[in-house]
Order: sequence, then structure tokens, then C-alpha cells
Amino acid sequence: MEAIPRDACLGNDDAVIATNDDASTCKRCAVDLGYWSDPYIHYFVKSTDRKAPEINRGYYARTIAIQSLVEKFIDITSGKCQIVNIGAGFDTLYWRLKDSGRVVKEFYELDFPSVTSRKCLYIQRSKPLLQGISHEDHDIKLNRNNLHAYNYKLIGVDLRNLKEVEEKLKESDIEFQIPTIFLAECVLVYMNITKSSQLLRWITQSFKSVLFINYEMVNLHDRFGEVMLNNLRCRGCDLQGAETCRDLNTQETRFTKEGWAGAEASDMLSIWGRLPPEEISRVTQIEMLDEQELLLQLFSHYCITLAWNDSRWAEVQL
Ligand SMILES: C[S@@+](CC[C@H](N)C(=O)[O-])C[C@H]1O[C@@H](n2cnc3c(N)ncnc32)[C@H](O)[C@@H]1O
Repeated sequence: MEAIPRDACLGNDDAVIATNDDASTCKRCAVDLGYWSDPYIHYFVKSTDRKAPEINRGYYARTIAIQSLVEKFIDITSGKCQIVNIGAGFDTLYWRLKDSGRVVKEFYELDFPSVTSRKCLYIQRSKPLLQGISHEDHDIKLNRNNLHAYNYKLIGVDLRNLKEVEEKLKESDIEFQIPTIFLAECVLVYMNITKSSQLLRWITQSFKSVLFINYEMVNLHDRFGEVMLNNLRCRGCDLQGAETCRDLNTQETRFTKEGWAGAEASDMLSIWGRLPPEEISRVTQIEMLDEQELLLQLFSHYCITLAWNDSRWAEVQL
């Protein structure tokens, strides 16, 4: 589902940054085929090759499940909340939520400066993206890597540099007391475990009421997972956070051992089974799937973990 681009073999930050282009092109392909509606993705990705049906279904399940969880949180809090999307890449969630009538107090997106500078540029060049973040009483402030609009803030920062993350969020008026979602889609796995653990500890200690939504690989200890990892290693790609993706239990304990009150991880096979039956029936008719087994294998090697430091959020489920 998260194909690793060839240049990830370089094993440096550029390779990690390139994973955003891969995720964005996969999303655009699935959107073009009608898996879900996203009128904004094509402003970030101009064209793409056709991907395999199981990849398209994987991106569909991931996107729909995450948006549905975020919407539930926004509805429970009546929008009196903030969202921090870490390693956001070219994600369009802010605009899609707005189209669904859901507005939050603040929406933050963090990524490496070289990613946010490209995102700034695409937003500037596209009227619908600009309109989405505009507000009549508020100017949009912009520099090379950062954009501050009314309730949308795009911040260029290395997530491994906690001091800078904290400073930049504070400069952008982050609130520590209101309900907050932290969202990470295939991000923590690219970080050294010491650094990702420090980040998770800081979040739970600093913010009063958080739901963390983490989408990532899992079951890397079984045969299929080992083959996935070995293929990557042979190409020189070592996923630095792979140990936390060993199984559903390690995905949960990475949070609880850093002080989170609770965590629950579900693989995408189980998430798929919780999606509305009429939607499953619609998307399974989009493309023929020759290798059902491959889809099942992929679904059992990705998961969504929900973690909270406020028991109120244990009720947010698909
Ligand atoms: C696989 S992409 C996913 C992008 C987006 N979350 C999505 O699902 O479409 C991983 C993203 O995490 C970002 N990322 C990884 N490590 C990071 C770090 N240390 N600091 C900032 N961003 C990071 C990458 O630049 C990239 O945009």
C-alpha cells in the first residue's frame, strides 16, 4: 500500500521526503478512478500512472477510515478543537473537511521545509485551495516554507527537532488546553525510535486532551512482513521505526509506555470490515481484483492505532 520509491534506498531525508510524492500519486490515481471524491489532489499531483487495484483499495480504506474518525471527533467537540497533521505531505484533508461543512478552530500541517515550500507554492497557484483557507477578516501570511491563514497553518519543521516543533507551534498560536487530534499517516516509521518516542511523550505531556490517529505498517515479524522488510533492506532502505511496527501490541505500547492513558490498534482487514457495506460494494465494482489473497495480505500489514490521554476519546471508533 505504501510503496517505497526507489530513491528511498539512499536512506537519507530526501528519500523520506520522496515518500510524499509516492503517497500523493497513489491517492490521485484512486481518486481519478472514482474510489473517493477529492477535488483538490490534482492541484498537487499533475498526472499519474495507473496503480494496481489492491493499492487503490488500500488507499481508499486508509483515507475513508481516517476522515471518518476525524469527523467523529469534530462532531463530538462541535468543532471546538484543533488538528495537527504531522508529516502531512500534500494531504488535502483540511479542504475536504471544509467541504463537508466541518470547520475546526485551527488546523496545523507540519512537514520538512522542502515539502511545505512546495505545498505553499501549489496553494498560492490554485484559486480553490486559496479560497479554502481565506477569510474576509484575515490576511494570509506567507514565507518560503510557512503559511499562516485564518485557521490553517502550514509549518516547515523537522519533527525530530522537538524544541523547534514546540517553538513553531507556539508561534502559530497552538492551544494546549483544547481537544486536539494528532494525525500521522506513514510518518513515525521513518523516524528513529528514540526521536518518535520523545515526540509522543511530549505530545501527551503538553496537551491536555488528545486523540492520536496513527496509520502505519504492522506485522512486520511474519513471513510477508519479513519479505517486505528484507526487500527494502536489500535495496538499502532501513525503516528506522520498524521495531514499533512488529505487531498490534507494539503499535499500542509505543504510546502507553510514553505515558498515554490508552491505545487500540486495528489492522486494515478489520477496519475494512467496519466500512459501510454499500461503500464496499460500490468500490469493489470499480476494478476487478485478480489476487484477492494479495489484498488480504496488504490489509493485514497496515493498521490504524488510536491513542488517547483523555478517556473521553476512547469512544471514538469506526
Ligand atoms: C509517506 S509520506 C505521507 C504523507 C501524508 N501523511 C499522506 O499520508 O499522504 C511521509 C511524510 O512524512 C514526512 N516526514 C517524515 N519524517 C519527517 C520528519 N522528521 N520531519 C518532518 N516531516 C517528516 C515526509 O516528508 C513525508 O511528507
